[in-house]
Amino acid sequence: MERIFIQEVAPRDGLQNEDAFIPTPKKIELINQLSNAGVDKMEVTSFVSPKAVPNLRDAEEVMKMIKRNTDVTYTALIPNLKGAKRAVSCNVDEVNLLVSASNTHNLKNVGRSTEETFEGFRETISFLEDKRVLINGSIGTSFGCPFEGSIPERRVLSLIEKYRELGANGITLADTTGMATPKQVYELCKKVISRFHDLDVTLHFHNTRGMGLANVIEGIRAGVTRFDASLGGVGGCPFAPGATGNICTEDLVHMLQFMDYELNANLDKLLDASHYLGKLLSHDLPGQVAKAGKITDLHDASNF
Ligand code: COA
Ligand code: ZN
Repeated sequence: MERIFIQEVAPRDGLQNEDAFIPTPKKIELINQLSNAGVDKMEVTSFVSPKAVPNLRDAEEVMKMIKRNTDVTYTALIPNLKGAKRAVSCNVDEVNLLVSASNTHNLKNVGRSTEETFEGFRETISFLEDKRVLINGSIGTSFGCPFEGSIPERRVLSLIEKYRELGANGITLADTTGMATPKQVYELCKKVISRFHDLDVTLHFHNTRGMGLANVIEGIRAGVTRFDASLGGVGGCPFAPGATGNICTEDLVHMLQFMDYELNANLDKLLDASHYLGKLLSHDLPGQVAKAGKITDLHDASNF
């Protein structure tokens, strides 16, 4: 069966949206547990303005103090040249640039238009040219925007083209507020995969409307093999109304494992890490398998 790559984003997408700051040593412990749970890539943090995202103000410390596993690609979100310099000083494997397909969401998120953000990427990329760091380009609100509504496919395709011209190794289509439908995912991904076979394509879904795992299946059917997911299903963009958690890593791995896909991820270790995360946060986590157990966890009938 096909190999699917699991890319963990809870330490960034998840923790950025929590009410409380998670103490740095606890974040590091969480990331170390995830590194040992077989995820293929992990977004460890973001090098953004600490005023904009106070929860990730310890980015340098976290990035420098985690125990790195050579099987994992460690990535970090960066919005600009300053972020790139900070990330490179911590020896990240990859930087993840972010722009929104929706101009309105981009203005809310980084205070600039989509075009201005891309212009700014030029100096960031030229700084990165002689650094040994991979470049991923993310496109927020690729499947719909909570302010503007639907986003034309041609808009997304032209942003991918721009990232390719800038020299990105991969791109991520992000469904920032869970507006993608499975049909839409299949149709857009078919076009993306056939047109951009030289780029690694990742899908980043939020489960805001319960369509997340259905969208994964349609993404796979269209030829995508890389998926972002967040432990416990935590996450969300603080600059988008109604944003809720990513698809849940352990739920995703559970589904794909029992469908016989080839994965590096270890479900039991992910469930342990999810229970650890549950203790760090002061609310219930949206993930379902951590509560219900695996489909192979049977119950003693005499107890019911
Ligand atoms: N890291 C740390 N500080 C940064 C920074 C970075 N990458 N980029 C800018 N700053 C600081 C500047 O040094 C300046 O600091 P000062 O006020 O102490 O002088 C301040 O931020 C303002 O700089 P400016 O270039 O005018 O940025 P801005 O205020 O227009 O903010 C962003 C632009 C992109 C830095 C900010 O909007 C941001 O970090 N957004 C976070 C987006 C995000 O993470 N969203 C969630 C993802 S879904
Ligand atoms: Zn997200």
